[in-house]
Amino acid sequence: MSDTDYASDTLNDMAPQPAETRRVVVLISGNGSNLQALIDEQAHDRLGGDIVAVISNEPDAYGLHRAHEAGIEAVVLPHREYDSRDAYDGALIKVIERHEPDLIVLAGFMRILTPRFVQRFLGRMLNVHPSLLPAYQGLNTHARALADGVAEHGCSVHFVTEELDGGPVVLQAVVEVSEDETEESLKAKVHAREHLIYPIAVKWCLEGRLKFANGGATFDGVALPPHGLRMSHADAAEELDEDPER
Ligand code: GRF
Repeated sequence: MSDTDYASDTLNDMAPQPAETRRVVVLISGNGSNLQALIDEQAHDRLGGDIVAVISNEPDAYGLHRAHEAGIEAVVLPHREYDSRDAYDGALIKVIERHEPDLIVLAGFMRILTPRFVQRFLGRMLNVHPSLLPAYQGLNTHARALADGVAEHGCSVHFVTEELDGGPVVLQAVVEVSEDETEESLKAKVHAREHLIYPIAVKWCLEGRLKFANGGATFDGVALPPHGLRMSHADAAEELDEDPER
């Protein structure tokens, strides 16, 4: 080996390796406004990774159009073509793994997942839910919150576990319920908060700041409380240019 070879090998060893781009697969069933929020952050290089595929179980989900528009591969995997939940989830695992994702993001994916599916991606799958979990797991969260006369409602991002809407919460945003609130107005406010916090949580996961460990969530190595990190009504209203008194 010549001196030059030696020098050049040494330099190569020391040269910083370019970090690999983190890969995200998003699962949807419908409108995909949360998907759009993620696409918009990616367009500004603020997502911390690339959405490499969007998969829908519904062929006419509007989110597929959003993916096309953004130049992202859009895949339809209709659940109606499979005999059982297990067969469908098996096929879905294969399609997802083909894209070698670091993170799977559920964005309005209206399917109950099999334990096999959840276990396959445990610790690298996030969901957004329209309530301050653990309150109002399941459907019709806004109507139920209004019927109960709650003063606060909101949304949560959580790691997905086998318990439906029961995995460790990483981030929440609060909305104060006003006296003349309707289901529609509450839904709109909660949705806006989802679009605010979901990209943040995705970025923190891709950066390795948010982690799933021992059945809970950690942020920068510190265990999070049951409701995760919280964005107050006032902070969210300011970010969203809302009237904080409303
Ligand atoms: C959101 O309200 C989310 O909380 C729930 O499904 C809805 C999806 O909305 N999981 P979009 O398709 O992102 O507009």
